[in-house]
Amino acid sequence: MEIFRTINGLRGCVQAWRQTGAKVGFVPTMGFLHDGHLSLVRRAQSHADRCVVSIFVNPTQFGQAADLDAYPRNEARDLDMLEAQGVDAVFIPEVNEIYAPGDETIVETTRLANILHGQVRPGHYRGVASVVTRLFNIVQPDVAVFGEKDYQQLQVIRRMVRDLHMPIEIIGGPTVREADGLAMSSRNVRLTDADRAAAVVLSRALDAAEAVATTGGTVESIRAVIQDTIDAEPRATLTGLDTVHHSDLTEMSGSLGAPLAVMISAQFSDILLIDQRVIQP
Ligand code: PAJ
Repeated sequence: MEIFRTINGLRGCVQAWRQTGAKVGFVPTMGFLHDGHLSLVRRAQSHADRCVVSIFVNPTQFGQAADLDAYPRNEARDLDMLEAQGVDAVFIPEVNEIYAPGDETIVETTRLANILHGQVRPGHYRGVASVVTRLFNIVQPDVAVFGEKDYQQLQVIRRMVRDLHMPIEIIGGPTVREADGLAMSSRNVRLTDADRAAAVVLSRALDAAEAVATTGGTVESIRAVIQDTIDAEPRATLTGLDTVHHSDLTEMSGSLGAPLAVMISAQFSDILLIDQRVIQP
């Protein structure tokens, strides 16, 4: 596995692969990897001949400097995991390599970035689109894989690639969970034991939503069962509940006419966790 910290180094490697006709897959991450990330790597490997993973804690997608500083990092462990997974190249740039001094270009999906989770975290999806565009231009992959767990992010990227005519196939990967159902996240290590145990309520609420949908429940009844399930857990505070069309993320109501994306965010002490599920009509 080759490790690159500069754009030129990585580009040289990818160019050499291309000359042999290899198809290139790419998984962008912010590191502190877990099995969820590795599942995306495996997906990229199954769609491409070579796989690049980037590890870059992107400052422009964090609202508060404190949140950026608190982001967990463990480069040595990440590299071991990627090597064991058979990744071909890892790109670990410094901030100045991605955002050179004087950098001023932003990329924004103007509607999708500013609804739902984007209202709670202003500028977040602009930061994501701006960094992913830079990474795409550096790596120039044929396919890139993103997790469905960050469902709005996946839709922002799909929209951006379509709008800007980027010749990259975007593939979504299903959410990987702990044995009790909690979606894997780099933030889970920051939960207290009691909050960790309580956090299973998110996936339970989604299970309950799915059960309501299979018996013909409306969007309103799905929302009610999620609210009730989370309200019953005293350690959880529901901070967001979005029930939207699976691709354009517009609000849905009444009986399910199309796949419904249910996106939940909840606070456990000072840690915000998210989970989602797409429910078929
Ligand atoms: P990060 O949070 O490191 O996540 C990297 C990728 O892993 C994302 O596509 C995310 O959706 C996916 N992922 C996270 N948890 C997952 C799980 N439990 N199962 C499956 N996939 C999971 O998302 C980012 O980084 C950044 O915003 C990034 C896209 C790298 C831009 O900076």
